[in-house]
Amino acid sequence: MDSTQAWIERGRPAHVAIIMDGNGRWARSRGLPRSAGHSRGAEALRRAVRAALELGLDCLTVFAFSSENWYRPAREVDGLMGLLRHYLKGEIGELHGNGVRLRFIGARERLPADIISLIDESEARTRDNGQLTLVVALSYGGRQEFVAAARRLAAAAAAGRLDPDKIDEDQVAAALFTAGLPDPDLVIRTSGERRISNFLLWQTAYSELVFLDKFWPDFDKSDLEAAILEYQKRQRRYGVLEEAG
Ligand code: FPP
Repeated sequence: MDSTQAWIERGRPAHVAIIMDGNGRWARSRGLPRSAGHSRGAEALRRAVRAALELGLDCLTVFAFSSENWYRPAREVDGLMGLLRHYLKGEIGELHGNGVRLRFIGARERLPADIISLIDESEARTRDNGQLTLVVALSYGGRQEFVAAARRLAAAAAAGRLDPDKIDEDQVAAALFTAGLPDPDLVIRTSGERRISNFLLWQTAYSELVFLDKFWPDFDKSDLEAAILEYQKRQRRYGVLEEAG
């Protein structure tokens, strides 16, 4: 039995989320510009999507650009937007052909107009695909997502469409960018940092966290498998005690 079959037998995580960290340090350690790290990061993302398809995950979420990343030097922000344009235009055919449904979460109104059109088009084109949902967190921050949700719920209450006393977890979840998506079972962060960094704050309440001492551009299928095996060793109890006996 190969390792892939072995982990499928032990129960696969339906949804894996990844904080793709360490592009800059990968480049610096090789005396290369940061942009080279981001380009190699885009290749690692391609590998991760293929691996997610091969391993039969339902959903893969990747943190591609945070709300805080807007404060990086304009040259780097422009470079990342350029890479995203290139990635979307270059990959959409293969993604669609492989049955990948694309979804973007984040404050899309802050993005350049042509990128908003590209992501709208790619979501519309792939909306009926069911092999894998690839969620790209772009201009995304967990706290900003809460604020947007609070505004949405408050507006509904002010308009008399929502009774504030009846707001429950399902309604909050439905007001988030991730409405309709399952919570991640497993969150992976590369580069050795051990923080959640404003990523999916509500949705990761019960997720297993795996930190890899490897920069994102070096990430490959074996790392995804290793993280899944680590996830399978852990017992998820959701705060509930095991039955006595
Ligand atoms: C973290 O590395 C990575 C990012 C800020 C951006 C992630 C982008 C990619 C993986 C490129 C591909 C993405 C798309 C959407 C095509 P860092 O720059 O924070 O690295 P550092 O912490 O070592 O400086």
